[in-house]
Amino acid sequence: MRIPAWQIITSTTLVAGMMVFSVSRANHPAQAAEVKNAAPYTTWSDYLGSADSAQYSALKQINKTNVSQLQQVWFYPAGENANRFGFNPLVVGNTMIVMGRQNSVVALNATTGKELWMHDNHNSRLVTHRGINYWESKDHSDRRLLTTVDNHLIALDFATGKVIETFGDHGSVDLREGLGRDPKTISQIRSGTPGRVFENLLILGSATGEAYDSPPGDLRAYDVVTGKLVWQFHTVPHPGEMGYDTWPKDAWKYIGGVNAWGEITLDAKRGIVYFPLGSPTYDFYGADRHGANLFSDCLLALDARTGKYLWHFQTTHHDLWDYDLEAAPKLMTITKDGKKIDVIAEPGKNNFLWVLDRATGKPVWPVEERPVPKSDMPGEQSWPTQPFPTHVPPFGKQMFSADDVNPYIVDPKEREEIRQKVLHARNQGLYTPPSLENTLETPGNNGGANWGSGSIDPVTNTLYVVSKNAPSMLKLASRSSREMMTGDPETLGKIVYIQNCQMCHTATLEGQPPSIPSLVDIVGRVGADRVRSIVHEGSSPMPAFPDLPPRDLSHLIAFLQNPAKANVPPDVIAALDQPKQIVKDPEGRTRYWTGYGYMNSSTGMAAIGPPWSTITAYDMNKGTIKWQIPLGGVTELEARGITGTGSFWPRGGGVVTAGGLILIGTRSDSKLHAYDKDTGKLIWETVLPAGPQGIPAVYEIGGREYVALAAQSVAEPGQKTIKPTGPETTGYYVFALPKKP
Ligand code: HEC
Repeated sequence: MRIPAWQIITSTTLVAGMMVFSVSRANHPAQAAEVKNAAPYTTWSDYLGSADSAQYSALKQINKTNVSQLQQVWFYPAGENANRFGFNPLVVGNTMIVMGRQNSVVALNATTGKELWMHDNHNSRLVTHRGINYWESKDHSDRRLLTTVDNHLIALDFATGKVIETFGDHGSVDLREGLGRDPKTISQIRSGTPGRVFENLLILGSATGEAYDSPPGDLRAYDVVTGKLVWQFHTVPHPGEMGYDTWPKDAWKYIGGVNAWGEITLDAKRGIVYFPLGSPTYDFYGADRHGANLFSDCLLALDARTGKYLWHFQTTHHDLWDYDLEAAPKLMTITKDGKKIDVIAEPGKNNFLWVLDRATGKPVWPVEERPVPKSDMPGEQSWPTQPFPTHVPPFGKQMFSADDVNPYIVDPKEREEIRQKVLHARNQGLYTPPSLENTLETPGNNGGANWGSGSIDPVTNTLYVVSKNAPSMLKLASRSSREMMTGDPETLGKIVYIQNCQMCHTATLEGQPPSIPSLVDIVGRVGADRVRSIVHEGSSPMPAFPDLPPRDLSHLIAFLQNPAKANVPPDVIAALDQPKQIVKDPEGRTRYWTGYGYMNSSTGMAAIGPPWSTITAYDMNKGTIKWQIPLGGVTELEARGITGTGSFWPRGGGVVTAGGLILIGTRSDSKLHAYDKDTGKLIWETVLPAGPQGIPAVYEIGGREYVALAAQSVAEPGQKTIKPTGPETTGYYVFALPKKP
């Protein structure tokens, strides 16, 4: 009998009968005093609307017939420098909480947008930027917001925004502690996504980074009043814990990741919390982690009160593709063969939709293990099979062939270059393992479903998945050490740049707008500290470089400040491909790595043809696709008369309403769209002055329904640098129907 991978730090009572299931559709957001007695799905007091992550609103004042009359009722500016945006506004009573200027937490009057208070986070980039957690005591006297700043968990007074000093150590809890690694070596741990509040607990995941030497993604629950750790679950199991035998014996000491950086879903009625978990370090090479690697890429169910293991389902074994799970798992009650079944559905980055029985974690429709191509990397032992659903169809492409090259790339020479690259790459479809040669990954590691991707209609049992069609080109190389190199800082910095940044931001630093920003004069524009923190911490989809030594980082900054001064001799550039100094892991194995390999043309167009993003509606009683549509478009192409392409890489997702709508914003056409939830037909859309990101909030106050969403000023396609001029456009746009006269 193995001991499960959990640990109770303070004793809590296990509720008897927890495993007695009832057929339930909704887990009400049971928080705010004002909303305590509200009907299900009529408030937005939890991230994604409700703790069960439904992204559904039962409000129907705004409906198919009148949505075209929507008007902007207020705008709240959040500062043009907001680099990471897409905050899902939280609404409690008449108060809206958003992320404001310099990543502050701001309370607004939800009907007027008037500022009530602001909590200054001093422009820290290490904040939870996609949403926030709200908690109140049973008697409503104690009301708090819980969020993270600089890798610390803090509690704010909901009424004033002031730090609650009695929480943790003088108002904060250091999240780098207790992970079995030296906290000083942990550059990032807080997740950009908020956790889930359950009773008096805050359940948290983390964003550990996925480079070599990142910390592990232990799941943790904290007491919301005291800040004390209540339970901790080791996602990379320690000796004696369940799943330990799916790793080398010391892996728990050096492997990181396997974290819930995405969205967490709570089944409040059953007291169960579900985590979509990420891949282990290092994303694309696993010679130091032979085995299936539980609980990486698992949907994991834990007892929300104790952290006790209930079940898991692994969607990719021994991940070599960065096929993290991060979209919120969706809870539904379907009718299959005349029987009601409580299910949990999880869309993945690999374009599969996993539908499991919520009680057991077993697939509702068949899933079979199929042989997949074997890796030929030195020391690698790729897993021989991967799970494939045989009934539920995938929601996107799993192969990029030479015929699929984007026909809208204007230069025929460039189109042909991409075609040749695709033709000559290793390309055996899904699960082609990365190698020393160009290897196509379809869907790519920035493709498929991601945070915010799912929304449900509990009335019709439809699940809507937003997904991105974005292949990657991977090529592993041994890591070289630059420690031995000498030269002036700009030259050394250029070498760092060539090895880490150039594949995306290009040799001229101009980037690939609109998806990859220009770094021309970036230090002048945003400051060295900000560049440092972006590099250290990443800025999704840009990967983090937490293990880039400070010396390299200083050289990099020097180079970015003065690129003209760098003088890298051609033979050094040539030698970068054949490094003498190879970085080894503690066992003496070479550390291989690759860029994330986003495939774009020189003008920032996708290498693959449209649709670049879609909404897929699944009939969950049958496990089949009802319809699929391209989601939005691209301004630059629409100007050329090319529509229906789908937007470039949407970040976030939509909300389904009882008014019959899917409300969703997309960045590359700066639009808020309203689709018919039954047919996928576009009913109405409007152009915003900025590009929407994240997930809208749908709420009602005083009998009026509102839709709020975040949008960020974006570079126009083809524009090399972002230089905002004129009025501020980054912020929160709030819509409602005109007031009846
Ligand atoms: C895999 C592609 C990729 C790589 C590699 C990459 N970046 Fe980025 N970078 C991006 C993307 C995409 C963004 C935009 C992120 C966003 O919108 O938040 C970005 C944003 C940035 C920004 C913010 C720009 C702004 O206008 O605020 C900086 C600074 C930056 N990157 C620096 C670097 C440096 C330095 C490196 C190398 C150490 C690097 N990046 C490597 C893709 C990449």
